[in-house]
Amino acid sequence: MKGIFITVEGPDGAGKTSVMRELVPRLREKTTQVIVETREPGGIPIAEKIRQIILDPKNDKMDERTEALLYAAARRQHLVQKVFPAIEAGQIVICDRFVDSSLAYQGAGRKIGIAAVASINEFATEGFKPDLTLYLDIDSDTGLQRIQSHRHDDLDRLDVETPEFHQRVRHGYLKLVEAEPERFVTIDAHRPIEQVIDDCYEAIIRKYTNYFF
Ligand code: TYD
Repeated sequence: MKGIFITVEGPDGAGKTSVMRELVPRLREKTTQVIVETREPGGIPIAEKIRQIILDPKNDKMDERTEALLYAAARRQHLVQKVFPAIEAGQIVICDRFVDSSLAYQGAGRKIGIAAVASINEFATEGFKPDLTLYLDIDSDTGLQRIQSHRHDDLDRLDVETPEFHQRVRHGYLKLVEAEPERFVTIDAHRPIEQVIDDCYEAIIRKYTNYFF
């Protein structure tokens, strides 16, 4: 069977990390295909190093275009070293964040513009796109409350951005979903995490019935 590339997206505090932790083992019980779980920025050593540079709160002088280019560079290396080989081998890749994060965070959040960020990402990905994107939708007040109550010791350079920044990120995501309704499944992430995970699971099984028993 052919490989599948699934991405999980959403504003900070939507619960992506908890979803990935539960969803992937549940899917593995239902298929003989290999499922590769990975994340951006990171997933392989070179990209994890770029991640440390981007997210370090001490790097407060970073220009927004530098930030966008670093995400795209990490993305390129991760694709070449991990995602492309897995897809070619017929595996299912589930990736926590991808190009849509750059469009929402750098394009809308940092106000570089979605089209400008899309163009550098086109260069990085050579037009490679997810087959399915689960978008965990949360309003910025609820999202920010969650990150502040869960991880006050561990906030990265983007978590500490202003509420307006996080609002722009969410609106950016909503525009992307509107533009490509066939690729996205929107999941309401204001609900208890178990329901969010169930919906993510169902969305994948429903679309790829041949891959799961
Ligand atoms: P992530 O590890 O998903 O953090 P969290 O678990 O806090 O959601 O992503 C780290 C941060 O990087 C997050 O604030 C979103 C941001 N980001 C971008 O701004 N652009 C991108 O292209 C990606 C992949 C992430």
